Amino acid sequence: MALIELQDVSKLYGFGDATTLALDEVNLIIEKGEFVAVMGPSGSGKSTLMHVIGLLDRPSHGLYKFNDRKVAKLRPNQAAKMRRDTIGFIFQSFNLLPRLTALENVALPLAYKGVSLGKRLKQASNMLDRVGIQSREYFLPGQLSGGQAQCAAIARALVNEPKLIIADEPTGNLDSAASRLVMELLSEVHKTGNTVLFVTHNPELTRYATRVVYMHDGAIVHDEKKALGQVADTARKSLYRVPMTTEEDDLAGVSALMKALPSKPAVRSKRKPKSRKAPAKRKTARGKNR
Ligand SMILES: Nc1ncnc2c1ncn2[C@@H]1O[C@H](COP(=O)(O)OP(=O)(O)O)[C@@H](O)[C@H]1O
Ligand SMILES: [Mg+2]
Repeated sequence: MALIELQDVSKLYGFGDATTLALDEVNLIIEKGEFVAVMGPSGSGKSTLMHVIGLLDRPSHGLYKFNDRKVAKLRPNQAAKMRRDTIGFIFQSFNLLPRLTALENVALPLAYKGVSLGKRLKQASNMLDRVGIQSREYFLPGQLSGGQAQCAAIARALVNEPKLIIADEPTGNLDSAASRLVMELLSEVHKTGNTVLFVTHNPELTRYATRVVYMHDGAIVHDEKKALGQVADTARKSLYRVPMTTEEDDLAGVSALMKALPSKPAVRSKRKPKSRKAPAKRKTARGKNR
């Protein structure tokens, strides 16, 4: 059964001459229980897609059904409630509150739900145990390593038992050992029946996914189902062309990846003939790297 259904979803930022078409009539169905990697060069719309799917942002056009409910036009407070109850977010920069301990950070989402203090600290502590850093529960985020901070952020994302986990470059600030740990944790979350979506620049990490979606210029240009444990075919083509050692190499790998992909129109055969709902200039607001 589909958890996420996007039909012709577009997202425009800005006005007039400065309009950026960040998502260009995206069609995407994600079934419950999928583990999807999203790849693509910087500025291709990956974060925008995560924000729209995660109800942090509304699409400008198109239909979005989450869990069989139309959500594209939810009011901000309705979206916030739905997000709180059903979606867990993990960001590249961890986004932990610096003055709260790891334990308090993880307990925070439960406070918004009205869970009593004792209960929420207990649940948060259990969750930190699950991600392997219970011994650090009274540390402030600044006292944690990058890997530990991301584990705390994962614990916070999981504490509400969300149906969907969205991770936008969760390993972007981590070394390879910490990246592996984070991906193993996400795998466990997937194994317990959750749907997981993650953005990565690293072809190696597609091993963890059951499906890889490639984006370019705001559109999905390739969509590949794959076996767990194997690097995605299209990603592998770029992996062997470019050695992956530094982040710059990762980005070079992504560029090689885009060259390895079929050209955009060929994979857009299902799309209707183009009918722009709004005149949009592409990429005038470029250079913003979020
Ligand atoms: N809040 C925003 N305001 C204006 N332009 C934005 C905003 N967010 C993203 N963009 C633009 O939308 C495009 C897609 O960005 P983004 O989704 O962040 O790409 P990615 O995550 O793949 O790097 C880029 O051209 C970016 O500059
Ligand atoms: Mg991004």
